[in-house]
Amino acid sequence: MIDSLDGLRTRLLIEGGKRLQGVVAAPGAKNAALPIMAASILAEGEIVLHRVPRITDVDVMAAILESLGAHVREHPGGTLVIDTSSVNSYSPPYALVSRLNASFDVTGALIGRFGRAEVPQPGGCVIGPRAVDLHLAGFTALGAEIALDHGAIIAIADALSGAKVALARPSVGATKNIMLAAVKANGTTTIENAALEPEVVDLADFLNACGARVSGHGTRTIVVEGVRALRGCEHTIIPDRIVAGTYLIAGAITHGDVTVQGLDPRMLHSLAETLGNTGARVSAQGVSVRAQGAESWKPTDIVTEPYPGFPTDLQAPLVAYLSLAKGTSQVQETIFDARFVYVSELARMGADVKVSGRSAIVTGVAALKAAPVEAPDIRAGGALVLAALAAEGKSEISGLEFIDRGYEFIEEKLTALGASAARVSGVAPVLPRDDLSITDALPRVVTPFAP
Ligand code: EPZ
Repeated sequence: MIDSLDGLRTRLLIEGGKRLQGVVAAPGAKNAALPIMAASILAEGEIVLHRVPRITDVDVMAAILESLGAHVREHPGGTLVIDTSSVNSYSPPYALVSRLNASFDVTGALIGRFGRAEVPQPGGCVIGPRAVDLHLAGFTALGAEIALDHGAIIAIADALSGAKVALARPSVGATKNIMLAAVKANGTTTIENAALEPEVVDLADFLNACGARVSGHGTRTIVVEGVRALRGCEHTIIPDRIVAGTYLIAGAITHGDVTVQGLDPRMLHSLAETLGNTGARVSAQGVSVRAQGAESWKPTDIVTEPYPGFPTDLQAPLVAYLSLAKGTSQVQETIFDARFVYVSELARMGADVKVSGRSAIVTGVAALKAAPVEAPDIRAGGALVLAALAAEGKSEISGLEFIDRGYEFIEEKLTALGASAARVSGVAPVLPRDDLSITDALPRVVTPFAP
């Protein structure tokens, strides 16, 4: 699977200034699909997952499962069939694990299945250190011994027993991992100060569909009554609220009119409120959310918070939007240490964003100008795409491998909404920048959903 992933040379060419209009379906949520794939390790029987997003993070998680001995088959339309009956290893390779922070989710599932896991320690990433102390404290509370050996976290438990785990902060990853370790433990585990994120809820729903007994998900206290075994099941991944939010901002930043279909509008409440504060019109009907951009918009202040607060994953996309507001916005990032890394790239397009620690002041400019820019992480990539859609001229975004980790077929979806967007691969077309035409660009290479 990994061999099919696009290389570093692929870039996205966007000619800004087009008004985006139309309907886009929300794909499955990356941050639900990845832990659910990891959770399949616990089930005895085939797992069928629908609405799995076609993103490279899913390819990497599939490769991790295969490296442990699982069989993963893909069917058209985003269905994955996973059979973990032949998993015979509790030690995924560093080369795969290091590509994906969420790969650490296999740890809870492996301890639950084998009483042992040896998983390379997540090293952190560009948005800040990705600590796992809360995950480990949870495993310890359940009876695992934890050690570090050659950069890998070794967790060993003769038997896991239910326990009370109070998280110092509502970590999404720790909540998921502790749930995974607890579903087959002896007795009842209570996770206090649990994360409320919809992706945590989806994992619990999946586990219950396989025969687990998890309750309280979506509240601060999750109770997991251990069961002897989990069976195979069929499950549809929830829609991706962050991808959906990015498309709504795309509508707003291009003075357009974009509807995202297929998700519960409550998942986007904080974004809808924030866009509304700036003057965009955001409306919800059934399972659709529509954003109509204003001709000009007001600044607004945001603070990123755990769900249901404003999501850190939409901070960079929103900053791209606020960089064109009429006035000054303050943005405070409370989740990650270094989530303003993209600001220097945005500045290349003319944005005025001053960062001090975990805060930023965004002073709206009259216009953004196209530039070659590089995405440093997934959501920063989303922000640069948004800036390019609004900018005057033709931008070239590299670091597309990050965007492909989280946004499926982005250029196709943008094009369907009326954008000029194309993927190019290989040596850059040698054209004077003014002549660089989207239509003349090299043929687009669509990242395949590997067979
Ligand atoms: C999940 O990361 C998401 N990733 C992130 O999505 C998202 O930004 C984040 O939740 C917050 O919503 C996945 O679900 C795969 P955390 P996660 O555990 O689980 C600290 C994206 O672009 N912390 O809530 O890592 C940690 O360092 C991404 O899709 C500890 O200190 O989030 C961070 O500062 C990126 N100790 C903060 O808590 C721990 O043991 C939030 O982490 C665990 C976390």
